[in-house]
Amino acid sequence: MNILILGGGGREHALAWAVKQNPKCDRLIVAPGNAGIAAIAECADLDIMDGAAVVTFAEENAVDFVIVGPEAPLAAGVADAVRAAGLACFGPSQEAAKLEASKAFTKAVCDACGAPTAAYARFTEAEPARRYVREQGAPIVIKADGLAAGKGVVVAMTEAEALEALDDMFSGAFGEAGAEVVIEEFMEGEEASFFLLCDGETVLPIGTAQDHKRVGEGDTGPNTGGMGAYSPAPVLTDAIAERALDEIVRPTVAELARRGTPFQGVLYAGLMIRDGQARLVEYNVRFGDPECQVLMLRLGAQALDLLLACARGELAGRKAQWADDHALTVVMAADGYPGSYEKGTEIKGLDDLPEDSFHMVFHAGTAARDGRIVATGGRVLNVTARGTTLAEAQARAYAMVDGIDWPQGFCRRDIGWRAL
Ligand code: AMP
Ligand code: GLY
Repeated sequence: MNILILGGGGREHALAWAVKQNPKCDRLIVAPGNAGIAAIAECADLDIMDGAAVVTFAEENAVDFVIVGPEAPLAAGVADAVRAAGLACFGPSQEAAKLEASKAFTKAVCDACGAPTAAYARFTEAEPARRYVREQGAPIVIKADGLAAGKGVVVAMTEAEALEALDDMFSGAFGEAGAEVVIEEFMEGEEASFFLLCDGETVLPIGTAQDHKRVGEGDTGPNTGGMGAYSPAPVLTDAIAERALDEIVRPTVAELARRGTPFQGVLYAGLMIRDGQARLVEYNVRFGDPECQVLMLRLGAQALDLLLACARGELAGRKAQWADDHALTVVMAADGYPGSYEKGTEIKGLDDLPEDSFHMVFHAGTAARDGRIVATGGRVLNVTARGTTLAEAQARAYAMVDGIDWPQGFCRRDIGWRAL
């Protein structure tokens, strides 16, 4: 089978790595890919936001199965275009992708199906929003409705911060994404992520994870796309996960099916856990990055069979086969990230690292130049390891980090601390 993966980050390297382990995979193409992906797959130059271009490329290259990595092409309807051309595609329709692309949509779905989530109100005008903030007081959470590359949420600890966030959003700092604002009750608890494959009807849990969003050790400093992650998430016990399935995920999937827009793909439920109960923080409609890296290292080759079953509506009766183990990934980022950073610095030492089903360095922002690997992004490498305990996975990951020679990069040294 010929497979096309859309995307070029650490998430897509991990997907490509897992897919490639499976003997069903004949030819693997990733668009645009990166230097790490180029070592295991063909990289193609393709506008992944353009559904028609993706279909033409897939047809020209006899692609049988398209896997969409990031949210932006899903929100742009690329999966719809691929399916309309008669090709198997992993990833939700544009309508179902609103679970990530519109906070107000998700809130309305939760209302309709009774899924527990933060109390909220929606606003399209500044003055009533300000009044609401003053009534509710802080802490309070202000969210731009649309996709804002992870920057559209302000957890305001004071009323002044909340009012400032409203000013930013209504003055157009987030463009269209901020034309509508959702104001939410602040939820206390511990966050964890629950990953589920859905084929429109059947829901199959494929793992839990926790990430570290803040740039600094001890979870301090500005927010980032994620500085590391581990799986499983101990806080999401089997009992809490089962309850979250019954109260949040299955009702959501049933509600989308009822609306005639079934969800097909991976549902990434961000949960807030407190007193043995989970409430929904948000949905994403794609794998987390870097959470995907730890999930793929644990799932291995079966990932392709599961994604295919998902795309074909054949998840009923399937189970994910888990080794009883742990995986952890450390993100290496360019100095300065999440602020401004230098590009083009050289990374050495990667060739001497172990590369097997227990150790993988997934590339996020890299390119190959004259036989050298250089950094091209903020988050650059995902140093990932598996072990029988989380401590073992952590020790293996940091041993690899120590073998990487990249003076212009940094990482957090405490990934996994909450669970250890
Ligand atoms: P989101 O983009 O919705 O994931 O929000 C980003 C982060 O903001 C989440 O991962 C939480 O840490 C935090 N957050 C969002 N909504 C809430 C809420 N209602 N209460 C507390 N924290 C929240
Ligand atoms: N690591 C958080 C995300 O992928 O949204």
